[in-house]
Amino acid sequence: MKLLWALAPLLVTAQTISKPPVAPGRSIYLSNCSLCHGATGEGGRGPNLSSGTPVHGTTDADLRRVISKGVSGTPMPSFRFEGSEMAQLLGYLRSLRTTRVAVEKAPGDAASGHVIYEKLRCNACHRIDKSGSVYGPDLSRVGAGRSLAYLRESIVNPSADVPPVYRGVAVTAADGSRVTGIRVNEDSFSLQLRNIAQQFVLFDKSEIKEMGERKESLMPPYSNLTPKELDDLVSYLASLRGAITKQGVKKGVEVR
Ligand code: HEC
Ligand code: HEC
Repeated sequence: MKLLWALAPLLVTAQTISKPPVAPGRSIYLSNCSLCHGATGEGGRGPNLSSGTPVHGTTDADLRRVISKGVSGTPMPSFRFEGSEMAQLLGYLRSLRTTRVAVEKAPGDAASGHVIYEKLRCNACHRIDKSGSVYGPDLSRVGAGRSLAYLRESIVNPSADVPPVYRGVAVTAADGSRVTGIRVNEDSFSLQLRNIAQQFVLFDKSEIKEMGERKESLMPPYSNLTPKELDDLVSYLASLRGAITKQGVKKGVEVR
């Protein structure tokens, strides 16, 4: 996934060179949206726009609203387009839907995925609605915000895409003790981490011997699930779509 994003600009350039000029809506899409929604709308950090099940509606008015306001509390930004650009973009988004007939469908059984979620104690780090931990991201709406492929990769290879706020920090204090956690606060004199037990640990910077950001995710990879277990777990996560109000999404609890 990460590699694909890294390559995306190259692919775009190669296409523009080898093909006749593309429809204007498509180039607007490629330069503003494909980073998160994929080059053909297949999704990634953002949901699938070609064959996913939209939670924000399907009419032009719905799309216009989402694009010009963004979705607060999620990575979906707001955009300003000139009148004709917006119309071209909407036309392109519609064409993405009509060229794909199949609807993206989670392949497994969400109910048994829920059982697996409990069995593996994912809630030691994640919260869904009101239960679980806030060490990792709140998953109450994760199915609305990510593509199936992204969810799958988040389980088997979490280090592929770690949002900056969830990068782990490993600290060795002057007395030799080591703590790994998520940065909650930092200034020139102090650093505050939340450890996996959800305790806050405060360091005076003068007491820190070594400190480094971890490249890998704080989430362990779950690479020994059977294909069926993985399908079920992905289906369960995809079913978590939360509530949407006029103001935007019902936010997960942000404790950061
Ligand atoms: C930084 C990543 C990012 C970029 C860039 C981005 N989006 Fe999004 N988009 C998201 C995320 C994440 C969501 C899911 C919001 C949620 O959780 O409800 C989303 C949601 C949407 C939705 C609603 C989908 C649904 O299921 O109802 C539409 C439509 C959309 N984006 C269109 C666009 C368009 C068009 C652009 C470019 C002009 C764009 N996005 C750029 C991340 C992004
Ligand atoms: C030790 C803590 C920990 C455990 C246990 C854990 N996770 Fe995570 N998880 C995290 C952290 C931290 C992140 C954010 C960093 C990242 O994306 O890798 C994350 C990210 C995720 C994401 C991506 C969320 C998003 O918004 O894109 C999903 C999905 C996820 N975890 C599912 C699971 C599932 C399912 C399990 C159980 C099988 C699980 N996690 C177990 C800590 C954990």
